[in-house]
Amino acid sequence: MKHLHSITELSNDEIMHTIERAIMIKNGEIKRYENIYTANLFFENSTRTKCSFEMAERKLALQVIPFETSTSSVTKGESLYDTCKTLESIGCDVLVIRHPENNYYEQLHELNIPVVNGGDGSGQHPTQCLLDLMTIYEEYGKFEGLKIIICGDILNSRVARSNYHALTSLGAQVKFVAPEIWQDHSLDAKYVSIDDAIEEVDVCMLLRVQHERHDEDAANFSRVNYNRMYGLTRERYDRLKEEAIILHPAPVNRDVEIDSELVEAPKSRIFKQMENGVYTRMSILSQVIENNR
Ligand code: CP
Repeated sequence: MKHLHSITELSNDEIMHTIERAIMIKNGEIKRYENIYTANLFFENSTRTKCSFEMAERKLALQVIPFETSTSSVTKGESLYDTCKTLESIGCDVLVIRHPENNYYEQLHELNIPVVNGGDGSGQHPTQCLLDLMTIYEEYGKFEGLKIIICGDILNSRVARSNYHALTSLGAQVKFVAPEIWQDHSLDAKYVSIDDAIEEVDVCMLLRVQHERHDEDAANFSRVNYNRMYGLTRERYDRLKEEAIILHPAPVNRDVEIDSELVEAPKSRIFKQMENGVYTRMSILSQVIENNR
């Protein structure tokens, strides 16, 4: 891995190598890198991805150059490319970027330093995908044959797009649950009712309802109706298989995608995903650093 723009760039072997390296790091095999400088450029809000990258960078002993869009020269109209080229020129070795524009990284091919994508619009979220895969792999030790549903705002979800690609490529059976307005038929997945699927799945992956990406009046959205039709309620939780697990990339809209009382229920791996995010990002950053030397 020389950079990470989209999960579709990675072979199954590279995905498995990244997960296995993350597990080794979790077990204490941590390398430290001297004189490597990074910057995290977040043009969209973030808690998990931004703080998790910063934690990963600090644990690898990287030097993190502070960058805030609100106080940068982006506010004077500087382009994304010129901003990144500036950070390269002053000595950054790796950039982590989240940006609202799909495929923003295509503007950055002339850079001589690697970019790790922290999420592009409704395009891809490869590091979230890899931490989700690590969490599933820790549970089951395989992907082949696992039955997985991804529920919610598929159309606007970079998490759904990345996970669908990777999980099917690794042999899992992935189906979607979504209201018609949030279905994405460019992805070759079957849509099912959550009530028809809930008893047979190994993994129930819930997605955040992304109000910020919706055109329709937010007042038309009913939290109660969404929860009743598509959410993980207590009644559905009780119908899950004994060993089934629940994932959600978070932030969670409590009592919408999932009943509040279930966020930390025994089958929930939501906070495990966040924990694994640090190890996954350490695995990714260390590979990018080593492969660009
Ligand atoms: N899951 C995720 O990307 O969360 P943040 O938006 O808080 O980074």
